[in-house]
Amino acid sequence: MLPQHLLILVSIAPCLAIWPQPAEIRTGHRVLWLDPALHATLRCEEKTIDVYGTANSQGSHLAGVLNGAFGFTQGLMDKLQFAFVTRNSSDQPCFSERSIVQNAVREAIQSIQQSNFVPWKLYKRHSTFEPDPHAARRYISTLHIQQKSCPASEPLSPESYFGGDESYLIDIDDDGITSIKANGSIGTIRGLQTLEQLFFAHSTKSGSYTPFAPLRIADRARWRHRGLSIDIARNPFESQDLLRTIDAMAMAKLNRLHIHATDSQSWPLEIPSLPDLARKGAYQPHLVWSANNLREIQMHGAAKGVSVFIEIDMPGHTASVTYAYPDLVAAFNELDWSTFAAEPLSGQLKLNSSDVHRFVATVLDDLLSRTSPYTSLYHVGGDELNRAAYLLDETVQSDDPGVLQPLLQKFIDSVIEASIRHGMQPVVWEEMLLDWNLTLPSAMDSAPSRQTLVQVWRNSERIEEVLKRGHRAIFGDYHFWYLDCKYLPYNTSGGYSSKLEKPYLDYCNPYHNWRQMYTYNPLANISADLQEGIEGGEVLMWSEQTDSSDLDSKLWPRAAAAAEVLWAGVRQEAMLEDATRRLGEWRERGVMDLRMRMSPVTMTWCLMEGGCNL
Ligand SMILES: *[C@@H]1O[C@H](CO)[C@@H](O)[C@H](O)[C@H]1NC(C)=O
Ligand SMILES: *[C@@H]1O[C@H](CO)[C@@H](O)[C@H](O)[C@H]1NC(C)=O
Ligand SMILES: *[C@@H]1O[C@H](CO)[C@@H](O)[C@H](O)[C@H]1NC(C)=O
Ligand SMILES: *[C@@H]1O[C@H](CO)[C@@H](O)[C@H](O)[C@H]1NC(C)=O
Ligand SMILES: *[C@@H]1O[C@H](CO)[C@@H](O)[C@H](O)[C@H]1NC(C)=O
Ligand SMILES: *[C@@H]1O[C@H](CO)[C@@H](O)[C@H](O)[C@H]1NC(C)=O
Repeated sequence: MLPQHLLILVSIAPCLAIWPQPAEIRTGHRVLWLDPALHATLRCEEKTIDVYGTANSQGSHLAGVLNGAFGFTQGLMDKLQFAFVTRNSSDQPCFSERSIVQNAVREAIQSIQQSNFVPWKLYKRHSTFEPDPHAARRYISTLHIQQKSCPASEPLSPESYFGGDESYLIDIDDDGITSIKANGSIGTIRGLQTLEQLFFAHSTKSGSYTPFAPLRIADRARWRHRGLSIDIARNPFESQDLLRTIDAMAMAKLNRLHIHATDSQSWPLEIPSLPDLARKGAYQPHLVWSANNLREIQMHGAAKGVSVFIEIDMPGHTASVTYAYPDLVAAFNELDWSTFAAEPLSGQLKLNSSDVHRFVATVLDDLLSRTSPYTSLYHVGGDELNRAAYLLDETVQSDDPGVLQPLLQKFIDSVIEASIRHGMQPVVWEEMLLDWNLTLPSAMDSAPSRQTLVQVWRNSERIEEVLKRGHRAIFGDYHFWYLDCKYLPYNTSGGYSSKLEKPYLDYCNPYHNWRQMYTYNPLANISADLQEGIEGGEVLMWSEQTDSSDLDSKLWPRAAAAAEVLWAGVRQEAMLEDATRRLGEWRERGVMDLRMRMSPVTMTWCLMEGGCNL
């Protein structure tokens, strides 16, 4: 039995801040410490595999990997390989669901053990909120993971892994027996992500404990597509930026990282079969994202349950192709840019050119064969196509939609066909469907890779229109879920302007804080019978005014606020006060354990006292 005074102490202000909020949760007030000699097993299809701890030293696949069986020696890429590979039946090193699950168990346990998060900010000033470190301890010594189907040891199949059932159950009983149950590997990953949030570091550095036993959590995702989009073309980013962004996404159960990889201003993404593209199109040669950088990010994502997918925005937003291939682009860098593009510099791929078609086919065959082992999505682009630019395109010489539309259909068809050929589900911006009336592979097709997802950025009417036309939709209305606030070239009416005028307000003025993200109701204005067609949503970070140095503070905690909407469902304003405390705790974990420069959610005083919704 625990000493009576201890129970009272820890029940003064039980802060239970699982973020995003689980569907069902029941907790007690007993303290359990994590046994440093914790042993974890994975049980599936009548088999039991040791995945962590002392029993692991013999016979485990992971042990073989950790012994350095494959001789990887240098660099982060190699470390990733080293950590994530397992051996399949032909004894080959292999990135598989099995290696991902084993790695995830090990990382979850280690991050609980190594956590620095002492939650003093969540209790009243100067109160004693921690268990007595000298009192007799009860331990969690065993973690049983039960997965209905065993994680496959074949090379990863992104569609079945990411498309698997994300639901999970966590039980911690009075004696510290802890179990995570899931139907598939991705459910186990989500369960482990929640498990990490149940523990706190003790300020004496004498271990990690949970004050919530006995506990039961039953949880599931509201939407399948829970995305964050980052534009790496307007300003420079490094691969480290996305690696740590993935860690924070995983902590918020965001599961899709959409990389807007190229734009008119720069082409940082290496396409090995067309080396000049990034060599000349990146802002500087050292700012090229190599094929290895991309692979590392995708592997890291897959290990955390985040599908990392690429958008090469086409045929608009492509001026940067000119630096390597000047003949492929029309209306490049026109002085009167606002006639030809939404922002400087203008330039679009020509629309009726066989050279352009060959170029696009080469880019896609190169890129999609490298990304398809780690994601089942490809973003086709297709936003903000400028008609006037085609007046200057000698292959067309017209801005008549009737002339342009069939050419555009042919162009997008070729991109979508490439995507489907690589087994990847295409995503397009809403304009292709709603403004250009293109025919896109149907939502009715039984194979997911043949169902085009349509991403909507303008408003709820457009979401409804996409659904009415029989396509699955991704929401992310810029009035609510754009994380950027750029000053140029948008004017305060939301239009484009080539002049800066007082009072120089952001185009999305006022700044969208986390409460705006949190209370966005993507189902508002969508008739009930159509809502089933919504695949999920994305928050978006365009980078006109963001780069490596301020990415973390602009993304977080705002993207995490959106993540709870995506995981748990539409939020109510009445939930804001509770959310302030829980998101505040989530942010502390991000700062203390991920070492990220996330913005504060509120004043520390409010976290301590509660009851102030500021
Ligand atoms: C084992 O992995 C190798 C390398 O990824 C692959 O070529 C092979 O097909 C796999 N074998 C089995 C049985 O999955
Ligand atoms: C697993 O699948 C079953 C049957 O579809 C479902 O009832 C259950 O909620 C799922 N999740 C877990 C964690 O068991
Ligand atoms: C597209 O190019 C072909 C071949 O150069 C030409 O015959 C055709 O008229 C062009 N189409 C348009 C709409 O300009
Ligand atoms: C697409 O359809 C809408 C509504 O029917 C129409 O207003 C618009 O002009 C069409 N766009 C093109 C490019 O044909
Ligand atoms: C719903 O429609 C109204 C009226 O057009 C609009 O003001 C509101 O912003 C919409 N809500 C959302 C969440 O899109
Ligand atoms: C601002 O945008 C609105 C809406 O597109 C447009 O009507 C207006 O002319 C623009 N103002 C300036 C100064 O460009």
